[in-house]
Amino acid sequence: MHVSVVEAVQLLKNGKLVVFPTETVYGLGASALSPEAVEAVYRAKGRPRDNPLICHFYDVDEIRRYGVTLTPLALVLFKAAAPGPLSLLLDLPLPSPLAAATGGRATIICRIPDHPVALELLRLVDEPIAAPSANTSGRMSGTRLDMIEADLHDKIDGYLDGGTSVVGIESTIVDARDPHCVTILRPGVIGREELLLIVRRAFERGEIDCLPEVVEGAHGAPVTPGARYAHYAPNTALTEYRPSSLLEMPRADAYLATAEWLRAQGIDAQVMPVHVGSSWYLSLGSRDDLSSVARRLYYVLYQLDQLGVSSACFVHEDWGMSSLARALEDRIEKMLRGRSVNPR
Ligand code: TXA
Ligand code: MG
Repeated sequence: MHVSVVEAVQLLKNGKLVVFPTETVYGLGASALSPEAVEAVYRAKGRPRDNPLICHFYDVDEIRRYGVTLTPLALVLFKAAAPGPLSLLLDLPLPSPLAAATGGRATIICRIPDHPVALELLRLVDEPIAAPSANTSGRMSGTRLDMIEADLHDKIDGYLDGGTSVVGIESTIVDARDPHCVTILRPGVIGREELLLIVRRAFERGEIDCLPEVVEGAHGAPVTPGARYAHYAPNTALTEYRPSSLLEMPRADAYLATAEWLRAQGIDAQVMPVHVGSSWYLSLGSRDDLSSVARRLYYVLYQLDQLGVSSACFVHEDWGMSSLARALEDRIEKMLRGRSVNPR
């Protein structure tokens, strides 16, 4: 059922589930204060119970009110990037009313989404919303309501529309607990360079006492349990083709590639898949505008599944080392690992 913001507020207050828009991807939201509602999120997604939920807040004051440990470094990061696609792993002294969402952990991931509908929802509901991405566990995150409804159906009490997610891939997650080191746990549109700039400026202004290093990836056991699971996978079996390799391109019923690569093959695919010869071609967007690729990626995977073909090939180009290129690479690598014709 499609609902208004006011109806969504009522549903959340009654312990129900609401899919709502954010700038990154849609969230599958529940009151973070209700263990029953949080439990319903796990059931609806089929999510492993050891995988805790990100909590969404209206602003930094609300995060503070819930007793989350806001270090000077965390405040600096939020001041520069909130509301926005940056989520912070912080300490959560126990006992806490948010413990259901964190699975009893003494840490929490906090996020302030940059979407007018999400912020209005958070303001009116006046409590934190626990929300993983709106998709069945293991599948690609939802960036438009039609693909989410096709995935989750009536497992959700209310669907709140906010258009297509403008970023298109999930927020950057950083561990902000150590004043000497900011660790990127999940890459996103805000990457190492952007974070370095933020902490350098804050250090120069005297807002933090030491200049932390910024490193990518946690060493050893993953800090975010979700990193262990297969992700972002369509139902269609996917192979990969690297144009830079000398290997021959595999035959497939469908090809996913940038607009430029398709054009070089004489194919003009835009928003909709096109059928040429015996194959389908789906455009990921332009390699010169990777934000368009991020915005389209999950929806193109959904379009692929809609075609009902049995094999597809992802044309895996090298998109460079920008923050967004690295974040896309992370998703593509997981997607290819999550569902391939050779699952071993
Ligand atoms: O952009 C986003 O971050 C979206 C939108 C809806 O806000 N949310 C999202 O949530 O991507 P999800 O659940 O799909 O990914 C959250 C990740 C998972 O890998 C989870 O294991 C980790 O964050 N996580 C959440 N709470 C944690 C905690 N307290 N400690 C460690 N990892 C945590
Ligand atoms: Mg997810």
